[in-house]
Amino acid sequence: MGNLAPRWLCLVFIFAAVVVAHADKALELRYIMYLTGQHDVVPEQSLVANITHVALAFMRAEIFNNPGHNEWPLFTTIDDARPKFAKETVIQVAIGGWGDTKAFSTAAKTAESRNIFAENVKAMLDATGADGIDIDWEYPGGNGEDYKTPGHLNVDKAWETDAYPQLLAAIRAAIGPAKTISAAVPGLPRDMLAFTPSTIPSIMASVDFLNIMTYDLMNRRDNVTKHHTGLQLSIEGIDAYLDAGVPPDKANLGLAFYVKWFKTAADVDCSAHPVGCKTQLMEDPGTGADLGKAGAFSWHDEVPFDLATSFAKALENGVYDEVGGGQYYWDGEERLFWSWDTEEAIRKKVGVVGKGKGLGGVFAWGLGEDAPKFDHLRATNDAMKNLETTGEEVGESYRERSEL
Ligand SMILES: *[C@@H]1O[C@H](CO)[C@@H](O)[C@H](O)[C@H]1NC(C)=O
Ligand SMILES: *[C@@H]1O[C@H](CO)[C@@H](O)[C@H](O)[C@H]1NC(C)=O
Repeated sequence: MGNLAPRWLCLVFIFAAVVVAHADKALELRYIMYLTGQHDVVPEQSLVANITHVALAFMRAEIFNNPGHNEWPLFTTIDDARPKFAKETVIQVAIGGWGDTKAFSTAAKTAESRNIFAENVKAMLDATGADGIDIDWEYPGGNGEDYKTPGHLNVDKAWETDAYPQLLAAIRAAIGPAKTISAAVPGLPRDMLAFTPSTIPSIMASVDFLNIMTYDLMNRRDNVTKHHTGLQLSIEGIDAYLDAGVPPDKANLGLAFYVKWFKTAADVDCSAHPVGCKTQLMEDPGTGADLGKAGAFSWHDEVPFDLATSFAKALENGVYDEVGGGQYYWDGEERLFWSWDTEEAIRKKVGVVGKGKGLGGVFAWGLGEDAPKFDHLRATNDAMKNLETTGEEVGESYRERSEL
């Protein structure tokens, strides 16, 4: 009994230290935007004042496989992009992207190929003045665009699970600790082939943080409707990484500044249960080809002509699912399921970073996708500001997770 008091006191001190440390941390939340070649639009400085990192997407991966390469084509230059953001903003070059997998396989294959790739990353950083890179290999170990192509099946890519951390390590060795390395990683557990308790430690040894793509969580490979950027599915994705050993403050939550639609089955009335309703076949089971029954467009895109009426109805009549956490609408005439984030949905989703997780921050795909109104960016700005003022709450929940 005698030593109960000191122990109790000790716990209080530890708790206080965690709260203080984490309140501090809350002020340093990462706030990342992808800036894409498709929508190279940056709003006025005041709206991007608190953006900590910008990842310019994309530079093709294949150019890093040529020894001594010295041309670095990108839709913009670092010098053009940098003055559009706050002075301290870290400017990264995002390499790869959906469908750009072959070159990463080539790069990862041997110690020699990994070094060629890594030396070229260093040469690119030196030549462009970028502060770091974001590796968008979608995905190491398989399940990418080519996952049904003979020779590129998941079984052919099993070796990549071990090679991926080695590629990251080679890049870190080449560019040193001062430059930023992040990786965009899949948000669906079914795609996390290379992200397991045995690989996570070596991945995390080389990267500064992971951008967990908690969007496209419904895609053409699904058979029932889901929220593509939904709260519940996002939490499941994040938890899979935390459970595999990713430190919470190295995990960033992904936001989507775009809308998705899916064709539901012709013979099924989804009106009673629009979420979880059967879709049409959206991907060719043999070739993996897109059958045109699902699609996406950003807030900056013109709404495709044949979808405009249905989307107007969705915006007018869409509802927020309090269970799954996502805005949706089912159009019974067109048999279309719509999934997107309203400003309110974004505020709720950003709350995940603080409430219960103590995550490192958020990122969005992408900044210009929200032009010209930037309403979703504004909502994210507000939500991030709100997180900063609730640092204590972040500390408390982090304590729960780390089970002192
Ligand atoms: C969708 O249906 C196909 C064909 O029945 C099946 O092979 C596939 O696993 C299903 N996908 C999901 C995500 O359930
Ligand atoms: C940036 O952060 C500061 C400090 O929290 C806040 O006062 C300001 O409104 C934020 N700016 C934007 C655009 O969110």
